[in-house]
This record gives sequence, structure tokens and C-alpha cells, in this order.
Amino acid sequence: MSGRGEVRVYADAAALGRATAELFAETVRAAVAESGRCGVLLAGGETPRRAYELLAEEPLAGSVPWPRVHFFWGDERCLPAGDPRRNETMARRALLDRVPVMPDQVHAIDCAAAPEQAAADYAERMRRFFGESLPRFDLALLGLGDDGHTASLLPDSTALGERQCWTAVAGRTEEPFVRVTLTAPLLNRARTTVFLVSGQGKAEMLRAALAGERPSLPVHLIRPEGRLLWLVDREAASLSGAVGAAG
Ligand code: 6PG
Repeated sequence: MSGRGEVRVYADAAALGRATAELFAETVRAAVAESGRCGVLLAGGETPRRAYELLAEEPLAGSVPWPRVHFFWGDERCLPAGDPRRNETMARRALLDRVPVMPDQVHAIDCAAAPEQAAADYAERMRRFFGESLPRFDLALLGLGDDGHTASLLPDSTALGERQCWTAVAGRTEEPFVRVTLTAPLLNRARTTVFLVSGQGKAEMLRAALAGERPSLPVHLIRPEGRLLWLVDREAASLSGAVGAAG
């Protein structure tokens, strides 16, 4: 346990993927049992892919009430639908195209319009699903970039200071696309927030995140009202002193 939530360390990326998939299934079942539906926020990047794939395979696939789950994204790269660099495309290929979910359960960030409009449209889409109150996802999956970003709350982006809007636009000069991201106030509403962190390349950033160092790091904006878990592999945890293997 760190001052920043519960840290669970797994032997490697495969074990991390299994644990993430099991936690996803368990959390979704509990939310559906409680309220009849579940709002899940999917993470992009590479780390969650294995978990998504395992969720589409037995025994886990049969243990999740898929028709009751609604899928949202914490961020997206503004590229045409189907582009392999989109977080939506990864999640569809790894999971959503392989389990029984209807199109109206998949709330992708549509970037056909200009990025600012795409961001506003996504806020409106969440408003239609959650009603007027600030959305509260049952499960929010987040990654951690080696620069300390999460979702697309990128270092030095104006999105970091956003306190009113539910979504924002962010970008990197070196990337041929901009991004739409959910903002910290919205992300912090989640009932269960799970950071997924894998690999030696993330060890220093995970150490700083757990130690609360370098306060300007975007990851420090994530202080959820609900439960906070870090599911990490041994390599990522190698500088954090949290090397006990949970599985
Ligand atoms: C994105 C992601 C981003 C990701 C981190 C970690 O669109 O890039 O949403 O926030 O989660 O960059 O990515 P990896 O899992 O690939 O290291």
C-alpha cells in the first residue's frame, strides 16, 4: 500500500494481463448486480491489450454480463475510424468485436469533426448516458506514459488545468494527430480506478508517481474519490520498492 492507493505487483506482463482481466470481470459483475448496468472507461496504449484479449476468451468471456456493459474511452487519437493507431481500434480488435455487445454500448470518441467539436460531442454523449450529474464510471482503466501522462493529460498541456469541462483537446508537436481526453475532475469521479503499468521503461515514472515526487506530473492530477489500484509488473515496480509478487 502506498500513500497513493494499493499497489499489486505481478511477475510479468502476462500475469499483469490476467490479473487485469479478472479484476475487470469481477468489478463489472458487481456493478451490474448493484445497478443493472456498468460504465467502463477503457485505457489506450499497449499495456491493456492482453487483458482485453483474455476477456474475450473463456473462461472469462462467459463470466461477464456483456449486454449490460457500456464502454467509453479516457482518450483518443484524432484519426479516422478504423485507423490502427486509434485506441478504439485496438479495443475493438482485442475485445469488443469478439464479445456480444451492441453498437449502442460502445461510446467511442468520434473524431470526424474538428477536435474541439469532437471533445464537446463526447461530453454531450456522456451527458446523455449519465444524465446531468457528473459521470461516475464504475471502472476506469488508465495507463502511465514514461513522461508521466495518463489518458491524454499530456505534460504542459492546457488540459491539465481544466476544472469545468469534462473533455479537452491535447497534442504533441511530434505526433501527426491531436488527442481528445477526459479531464481530471471527470476521471477522479470513478468508483474504481486502475493504473496499468508494465516494463522497465516505466520504473522511474512509477517510482515518482507513487512517491508523489515531481508535483507537475500529470499523473498526480488523478486523486480518485473511489478506490485506487496500481496493477504493475515486477519490472515497472523495480525502483519503487514494491517488488512483492501478487501473482
Ligand atoms: C494513449 C493512451 C495513453 C497510454 C499511455 C501508456 O492514447 O496513448 O491512452 O495514456 O495509456 O501512453 O501507454 P502504454 O500502455 O502503451 O505504455
